[in-house]
Amino acid sequence: MKPVFSNRAKNIRASEIREILKLTSRSDIISFAGGLPAPDCFPIDQLKGISKEVLQDMGVEALQYNATEGYLPLREKIAKRMQKQGMDAKADNILMTSGSQQGLDFSGKIFTDPGDIVLCESPSYLGAINAFKAYGAEFVEVDTDENGMIPEDLEAKLEKYDRVRMIYVIPDFQNPTGRTWSVERRKALLSLAKKYNKVVIEDNPYGELRYEGESLPSVYALDKDDLVVYLGTFSKTFCPGLRIGWVCASDEILNKYILVKQGADLHSNAMAQRELSLFLDHYDFDAHIDRLVKLYRHRRDIMVDALDKYFPKDIKYVKPEGGLFLWLEVSDKIDTKPFLQDAIKEGVAFVPGNSFFPNGGVDNGMRLNFSNMDDENIEAGMARLGALLKNL
Ligand SMILES: Cc1ncc(COP(=O)(O)O)c(C=O)c1O
Repeated sequence: MKPVFSNRAKNIRASEIREILKLTSRSDIISFAGGLPAPDCFPIDQLKGISKEVLQDMGVEALQYNATEGYLPLREKIAKRMQKQGMDAKADNILMTSGSQQGLDFSGKIFTDPGDIVLCESPSYLGAINAFKAYGAEFVEVDTDENGMIPEDLEAKLEKYDRVRMIYVIPDFQNPTGRTWSVERRKALLSLAKKYNKVVIEDNPYGELRYEGESLPSVYALDKDDLVVYLGTFSKTFCPGLRIGWVCASDEILNKYILVKQGADLHSNAMAQRELSLFLDHYDFDAHIDRLVKLYRHRRDIMVDALDKYFPKDIKYVKPEGGLFLWLEVSDKIDTKPFLQDAIKEGVAFVPGNSFFPNGGVDNGMRLNFSNMDDENIEAGMARLGALLKNL
């Protein structure tokens, strides 16, 4: 049989990251490719005890069908954490999702019809681009500098395109560039979203992983007009395998997400939500994040020092103040996609920058992850990449 796929399915193609990630599971590859947390920070021993406790004390509830919204005590704890970060969040406005990736998928489903436009940073997160593309969305990239989207360009594009349905942003330690938006740019985004009546999808997996400087208010925290849908996740601060994320939005918007989730998977993993909830009760989560911050700051510094030591002098990069990624632009004579094949032959992987531009056009970028490899591997991998680049 020759299967006949829907137009939607035809829009879905293998993501470059996923293909590369397959390679990086090889033990002989030093991988700067994925966005993987450090495995040594997974609280395996604590979770052994907690899993047992969940099964003993609430085994039936953890294994039975649950409410779509998610486990209420966990939603209450998330609301409290958001409040501590200056956000006016209530448990009733939170829906648990299977990672924030599911929140992205639902956003595409709820806000876009084929041919509609998503305004995004340039570059932007590949997983979001792929999620929205599946619904036939098209992308218009807004000019973006070290402080975020440039408001004049955002406004020009809001004026020019009448089918804009969402503005998708990652204002804290962006994937892939590591950039953080200034407060002024966050406010400018909100005032334009209000003026043109557009929803803002704020994706914030990295905000708590700050290595220096002061925390800035999220766009959601600054929003007084219910313009923002906030996507959170425990993937980078806890364990991605548990697939625990959330959407926080106004009643009217959240109701749509709840209905869509009912059709997608009824509810997220009830056992995992209870495990996380008990972990938050029994252990100091801020201390856990402090440990991650110390480790990742150290690894970032090793990577940045190695850039200075081993890479050609004409590279451009900005040291990220947080998050998991370092973005690098090499000489514009180099296309990093074929260069990846050379790097893999030398046992090192990264993600070529072009994948993060929904409309292509920038070939000399590289995204390097610094959270997942240990000190020796970062040093060795960067030395190899640097030597290869110098020999091109
Ligand atoms: C910007 C951004 N959004 C969303 C996700 C998805 O995260 P998860 O579904 O694990 O919560 C990622 C993962 O790397 C990301 O970088």
